[in-house]
Amino acid sequence: MLKPHKRAEVEWHEIREIGQEGKNSTAHVVEDVQLGAEIVMKKVEKAKLDSADEYFSEAKALYATAHQNVVPVLYSCEDDDYVYIALPLYENGSLKALMTARNLTVREIVRISCQLLSGLHNIHSKGLIHFDIKPDNVLLSERGEALLSDFGLAKQMYSGEAWQDQFYMPIAPPERVAGPPFNLQHDVYQFGLMLYRMCCGEDTVRNQFDAFGGDRAAFIAALENGTYPDRSMFPEHIPNRLKSVVIRCLKPNPNERFGSALAVANDLAKVEHCFDWEFEAGAGLKKWSRTENGAVKSFVVNGDGSTVFSTTKNGNTRRKTAHCKQTMTLTRIRGVLKDEG
Ligand SMILES: Nc1ncnc2c1ncn2[C@@H]1O[C@H](COP(=O)(O)OP(=O)(O)O)[C@@H](O)[C@H]1O
Ligand SMILES: [Mg+2]
Repeated sequence: MLKPHKRAEVEWHEIREIGQEGKNSTAHVVEDVQLGAEIVMKKVEKAKLDSADEYFSEAKALYATAHQNVVPVLYSCEDDDYVYIALPLYENGSLKALMTARNLTVREIVRISCQLLSGLHNIHSKGLIHFDIKPDNVLLSERGEALLSDFGLAKQMYSGEAWQDQFYMPIAPPERVAGPPFNLQHDVYQFGLMLYRMCCGEDTVRNQFDAFGGDRAAFIAALENGTYPDRSMFPEHIPNRLKSVVIRCLKPNPNERFGSALAVANDLAKVEHCFDWEFEAGAGLKKWSRTENGAVKSFVVNGDGSTVFSTTKNGNTRRKTAHCKQTMTLTRIRGVLKDEG
């Protein structure tokens, strides 16, 4: 028999607020008095949840899907107005912060994605759909491993389907137009969109969304016919295999996407070249560089179309004339990156 339940107290001191983007919640770095440690306390307003049954559903979903690539929940508690979820503090912050600071290499994209897909597969196998996969909701551990977080929208599936009314338009899959229920293809699409941002740049999706200027009909048409996001703007060093994984995750028809998170990871594992190019774009110029045996290889495509390929070692720079041209076709640029990558 269960004994009468007990109530106890926990105490913490606010240090600073982080991440204010959520509608129903705020996140704070706090000093937990009992643990004697800085942790993160996520604070969810009870009044913004549908019913008392939902108070602890986010904490329960996190706990139920415990995995090395899912943020662990330390404990959860409540007061009169709020529910609190205690999480370890990840000093490296979110994937969004990393992607805002610089472009990821193909090696990083594949590694981070495979880690997250392992976490996502676990979430699905526990019968949940996450519904809010995006770089802001991925945290990076001290060792640079990626963990899925923010289960604020996660829902239980019944016969492979779940209901979730809340969504954020720029990352909504085309099936949102018809409305719920949704299956795990919803997460596969959002994963694909995140992968697209990793390949094409953090702000690309937001910029493409903003370009519709609030014209909802035009946006929905583009979402449904597969022109949002723009599948033609991958940088030249993104291998075809990686591109085709992104494009398949983003298929407007959910049945044409990958059948599971694991199937996405299996295809990503087949990417085999251009792993280490660091890509920068700006002022009409595109630049790729990478280090190999102490030498820095650099390939620049200038605004006028001319190209310069050079290798710098011990302070000496040598040009490779075969790759220095007045103009170069797209196919040839891809070829140089593949051959030298
Ligand atoms: N445990 C954590 N460690 C470090 N940063 C965190 C942690 N949890 C959340 N954050 C930061 O706070 C932001 C908001 O947290 P999140 O759980 O996504 O809540 P919301 O529902 O408000 O989106 C995240 O995008 C991330 O930048
Ligand atoms: Mg979030």
